[in-house]
Amino acid sequence: MTAALREAYIAGTGMYVPDKVLTNADLERMVDTSDEWITTRTGIKKRHIAENGTGTSDLALEAAKDAMAMAGVTAADLDLIITATFTPDSPCPSAACLLQEKLGAKNAASFDLNAACTGFIYGLMTARQFIVSGMYDTVLVLGVDKLSSITNWRDRNTCVLFGDGAGAAIVTSRKQGLRLRAGYLGADGSMATLLHMPGGGSVIPPTHESIDQDLHYIAMNGRKVFKAAVLSMEKAVDKLLEQEGVDKHEIRWLIPHQANLRIIKVLGDYLDVPMERVHVSVQDYGNTSAATTAIGLHLVNASGEFEPGDKIVVVAFGGGFTWGACLIEC
Ligand code: ACO
Repeated sequence: MTAALREAYIAGTGMYVPDKVLTNADLERMVDTSDEWITTRTGIKKRHIAENGTGTSDLALEAAKDAMAMAGVTAADLDLIITATFTPDSPCPSAACLLQEKLGAKNAASFDLNAACTGFIYGLMTARQFIVSGMYDTVLVLGVDKLSSITNWRDRNTCVLFGDGAGAAIVTSRKQGLRLRAGYLGADGSMATLLHMPGGGSVIPPTHESIDQDLHYIAMNGRKVFKAAVLSMEKAVDKLLEQEGVDKHEIRWLIPHQANLRIIKVLGDYLDVPMERVHVSVQDYGNTSAATTAIGLHLVNASGEFEPGDKIVVVAFGGGFTWGACLIEC
């Protein structure tokens, strides 16, 4: 007799952004830019910025508490913590281990996962494997980045785009909340340098010279990344729907990565999802990298707008390049 495969559910979601707000007007005083340029090119009006000394694990902690409260789980219930981030508190230990200590989650194995802006979706799908296999029952997944820590505040091409934030989800084997039905993940390392932070790793460890050359900041070829983001997210959703035998018109909610309003609109049009059911929060938070889709899922979940039977597609694209989409059902 074959045992039926277990299902994975998202029992709770949460989010956190720091109090400090940086508006487009503030940025006008820092670099040669304008509210008009930022708004028309990106849709962003403001972003939240963490204080110096605040770590990624501190942002994650607040979002985690939120998700745990909604799911009704305690720190002792957590079997695993996956922190999707590419801006950990430090290279070692992981942000996940620091978060485990802050939560007092003594029973939880903990690790970080780096898939840049696609990290939350990679994290959800990783958690799902642990649940479906029967290895764990309760997994905390974070999408969290403190991009302000690697932003060059003298570079108008990038500094207007990013913000800090965290989103969280409790993935569980218990039938509670949203069903995490399936996912599709992809990557292409051949275009790595179009969106990267060259310094600070094993190839270019920090030196006075590397710092003088601005190698410890995120750098991006915006125009090329724009095209790749659109094509990769379209492909990710197409592959996911094909794999699951779902028609695009069955999508009730689209929760895309929040990098640029123009990209979001192109994706909504491609999938024929009306804008009132496409989640948009880029105007308030900017691009918070791994956190955008986690925050988006939480905002719609907490608003009470999901209805039984709704199919939700969460999709993202990021450095690597990486891309991914997952199908969630109410
Ligand atoms: N203010 C004023 N002018 C600016 C600014 C600014 N902040 N930034 C750039 N410009 C100028 C440029 O210098 C350029 O001037 P030029 O024509 O004289 O050379 C002009 O504006 C146009 O620049 P483009 O780069 O062509 O502008 P574009 O319309 O492509 O918008 C943007 C740039 C917003 C970055 C867009 O390309 C984009 O959103 N790209 C995708 C980003 C993305 O999806 N990232 C996802 C992953 S992010 C992650 O993983 C962390």
